[in-house]
Amino acid sequence: MIEIEDLTKRYGKTVAVDHLNLSIPKGEFFGLLGPNGAGKTTLVRMLSTLTEPTSGRISIGGVQLDRNKIEVKSKIGVVPQHMNLEWELTALQNLQLHAKLFGLEKALSNVMMEELLHYINLYERKNDLVKTFSGGMKRKLMIARALLHQPDVLLMDEPTVGLDATVRRKLWDLMKGLNKDGMTVILTTHYIEEAEVLCSRVGFMNQGKIVELDSPKNLVEKFGSFVLETFVDGETKLQFFKDRESALAKAAEFEGSVNIRLSNLEDTFLMLTNRKVGD
Ligand SMILES: Nc1ncnc2c1ncn2[C@@H]1O[C@H](COP(=O)(O)OP(=O)(O)OP(=O)(O)O)[C@@H](O)[C@H]1O
Ligand SMILES: [Mg+2]
Repeated sequence: MIEIEDLTKRYGKTVAVDHLNLSIPKGEFFGLLGPNGAGKTTLVRMLSTLTEPTSGRISIGGVQLDRNKIEVKSKIGVVPQHMNLEWELTALQNLQLHAKLFGLEKALSNVMMEELLHYINLYERKNDLVKTFSGGMKRKLMIARALLHQPDVLLMDEPTVGLDATVRRKLWDLMKGLNKDGMTVILTTHYIEEAEVLCSRVGFMNQGKIVELDSPKNLVEKFGSFVLETFVDGETKLQFFKDRESALAKAAEFEGSVNIRLSNLEDTFLMLTNRKVGD
């Protein structure tokens, strides 16, 4: 579905994306994790045709992006990292504007708009100005807008940032539903649990490269299924073990505060990047 070959993006001396290769099959729910500045947005923007690669190739649904941008654009729906709705327009007007920009046929797109507004539970608010919406409502509208031209691929850059746990879970269900209906979904997030719950595969990005790529389950078990957390000299350290017994044996060596638990994707992230998310 999506083929990325030797893709590089430079900004002056900064190499934002560095000779990246990645293949994403149709119907996959793919997650991109990585620290600030890893290159996630740059990669998503190149896939969305918003940023020109310095070198390398991207093809989406068999169409090479640099050869036919317009065709690729019709295949992808984009939810950018920063909110770019028209705040002084209503929800419906925002969708109408998008339909116009994409040259969608009026009768068909009107039906789609009604359907989408129901789907995201904003039908009753369709004539309200976007500036009166909560963060969650705006995010949902951005997703609806991205779906209006019926794309095959949905690209979302931190779609749930700043939302409370309940709203975030509702958006997860929305995304899960879309993926279940056959949509290929690519998501970047700093909420590692989100990637663990939603994604069939996760790529860890660091310094413009994908440094690890696997299912969340395999990534969680990469360093060991159990973690011994110690807090010594003002610093938390993680040690990984295959089983609880070996973690317990090691824990006996420590006098201070220790904790043994199952490992999670965040542990793997910290091990791979050696820094906390959002640092
Ligand atoms: N328009 C630009 N001009 C110059 N440098 C840029 C530009 N866009 C991104 N960069 C640089 O490219 C690198 C990757 O940035 P990018 O926004 O892709 O990271 P990210 O992984 O999305 O980070 P975050 O998690 O903070 O959103 C950074 O070093 C950034 O400063
Ligand atoms: Mg980003």
